[in-house]
Amino acid sequence: MTHVIQVQQLTKSYGPVRAVDGLSFTVRSGEIFGLLGPNGAGKTTTLSIIEGILPPDEGRVEVLGLDVSVRPREVKRRIGVQLQQTSLIRELRAWEQVALFGRLYGVRMDRKRAQELLARVGLDARANAYPDALSGGQRKRLTLALALVNDPDILFLDEPTTGLDPQARRALWDIVRDIAAQGRTVVLTTHYLEEAEALCHRVGLMDGGRLIALDTPAGLIRRAGLAAVIHVHATTSLQHLAHRPEVLAIHQEGQRFRIHTRDVAATLQALTRETGVDASSIHIQQPSLEDAFIQLTGRRLHA
Ligand SMILES: Nc1ncnc2c1ncn2[C@@H]1O[C@H](COP(=O)(O)OP(=O)(O)O)[C@@H](O)[C@H]1O
Ligand SMILES: [Mg+2]
Repeated sequence: MTHVIQVQQLTKSYGPVRAVDGLSFTVRSGEIFGLLGPNGAGKTTTLSIIEGILPPDEGRVEVLGLDVSVRPREVKRRIGVQLQQTSLIRELRAWEQVALFGRLYGVRMDRKRAQELLARVGLDARANAYPDALSGGQRKRLTLALALVNDPDILFLDEPTTGLDPQARRALWDIVRDIAAQGRTVVLTTHYLEEAEALCHRVGLMDGGRLIALDTPAGLIRRAGLAAVIHVHATTSLQHLAHRPEVLAIHQEGQRFRIHTRDVAATLQALTRETGVDASSIHIQQPSLEDAFIQLTGRRLHA
């Protein structure tokens, strides 16, 4: 497995504020990698350093085997960047913005090619529209198309769905998945837990400029050591199940039981041997990435 990004011991301060504080991680070729954290965690600063837009105070970044501080121009040619704040040009139609960006990158980008690129982000029907006439989701898709004009190996998306409604967010997830399926690596930031869980192969939890944990969403949940909860109706007492090694606690309200367990399968097996259990009432509540975030950082992502 090749690493396309290597970040080593990165630090960056703005005056007294330590925005990035000793960050190290690697990104693998072809994965969708997410930096998840609250506002001010240092996500944008980290991306800007990796993209070669901002110099770090200390540390080293390699992108596609190139040291970003030594060869920033070569790196920029091979990456695509969608900034958190987008700067579309009000006087240009969607396809004209794409054509202009193509020229800036020295890529041949006539109307037909611009149209094809817009089709990749589902915007071909809006090729003649000016930015002000586009919805928030369409504007995000247009800036995504701009980030693709140079056919980059790695795409950086800074909060690609912030401010979008759930439907537009899901549409954008599909586009990002398509882009990754073409063999590109995607690095994105988000403060939406469900986005990290749904979209990212691996997620780095950031808080206060540091990386708290880095794993797959399922791995982060496992690592937090949280129990699942089985909800069930039973006409007999189930309290004796509390002695099972994987069962952490049992709460009872009348005939309703909540069983906290580290091993759902084992507890379910024990439950099926019980008489008086209404199998159709069984409902399993798995811990979420949000639960893991609280467990690992000691606080909620959204206060
Ligand atoms: N240009 C800047 N000047 C001063 N402080 C900044 C600047 N950019 C970011 N910061 C501070 O650095 C910290 C990290 O910011 P940022 O990287 O934007 O985090 P995030 O993208 O996770 O919200 C925050 O405390 C923020 O206020
Ligand atoms: Mg940011």
